[in-house]
Amino acid sequence: MSTYTKVVLVTGGSSGIGQAICKRLAAQGHTVFGTARKPDQQPTGYRLIAMEVTDDASVQRAVDEVLQQAGRIDVLVNNAGLGIQGPAEDITPEQARALFEANVFGPHRVCRAVLPAMRAQGSGLIINISSLAANFGLPYRSFYSASKAALERYTETLSMETAPFGIHVVSLQPGEYRTNIASARLRPASISAPYRKGYERAMEILGGSLHESRDPDEVAVLVQRIMASPRPKSLYRAAHGMQLVSVLLKKLLPGRRFERMVMKHYR
Ligand SMILES: NC(=O)c1ccc[n+]([C@@H]2O[C@H](COP(=O)([O-])OP(=O)(O)OC[C@H]3O[C@@H](n4cnc5c(N)ncnc54)[C@H](OP(=O)(O)O)[C@@H]3O)[C@@H](O)[C@H]2O)c1
Repeated sequence: MSTYTKVVLVTGGSSGIGQAICKRLAAQGHTVFGTARKPDQQPTGYRLIAMEVTDDASVQRAVDEVLQQAGRIDVLVNNAGLGIQGPAEDITPEQARALFEANVFGPHRVCRAVLPAMRAQGSGLIINISSLAANFGLPYRSFYSASKAALERYTETLSMETAPFGIHVVSLQPGEYRTNIASARLRPASISAPYRKGYERAMEILGGSLHESRDPDEVAVLVQRIMASPRPKSLYRAAHGMQLVSVLLKKLLPGRRFERMVMKHYR
């Protein structure tokens, strides 16, 4: 890919990390298309187009629109995603499926729609926004970690399969950033009594750590760096302090010891 300005498609460009990426890249002079399920208001600097990542036709329509307007897609940032909270036992298979639809099959749909154009160009960059939570299970967020871990394995495979066409595929794992993700999390209809105390305490601690959340523009800066790299690495992390150390501890500590350490944090 050249170092000239690029055509970039960012899913979930209406809020949080995706919005920060759109703003920063647009300010750098790139042609940016963000997506939202209901793009009622147009931001300055980039275009918001309609895309529901759980719907094949909606994804294809949005990608066709970008190709029609810009003629190519150099960079895809698969950012749209959801959280989920609740004891694993209380999460219904339907809720888990809905989460995987948004966090795993959604990015897959967008990749499938974008890849023919990237292969024809002989170049492209796909950045899949995963999470630090892909590295380990976290209490009361089972399917979030599971969906992001699935996205990571998918990303690794896609990277190997599309490299011969000049396409780079990258995972980006953010730590905790100040966005709307907590308010949009899927939740069970009710929490079973035996789990209630532990769940409420863990959610209190999770909410209390919000002051440690950082400005999502940090993730946008990293995206900018990845775009500027001629040979991007397979994995990037946007995280600091204990969040980053925990990834290392997960690798070093025996499994049960790591679990006890996590549970101690949430007690
Ligand atoms: N914030 C964090 O601390 C954090 C940490 C690690 C990873 N992440 C990941 O970062 C990504 C962005 O999250 P965020 O924190 O910025 O959350 P956010 O503020 O809630 O933004 C989520 C974005 O995704 C879009 N979206 C959600 N469901 C969608 C669907 N079914 N179809 C199309 N678009 C959909 C939303 O658009 P509309 O609602 O306007 O349609 C919105 O633009 C997610 O993949 C998340 O898992 C976030």
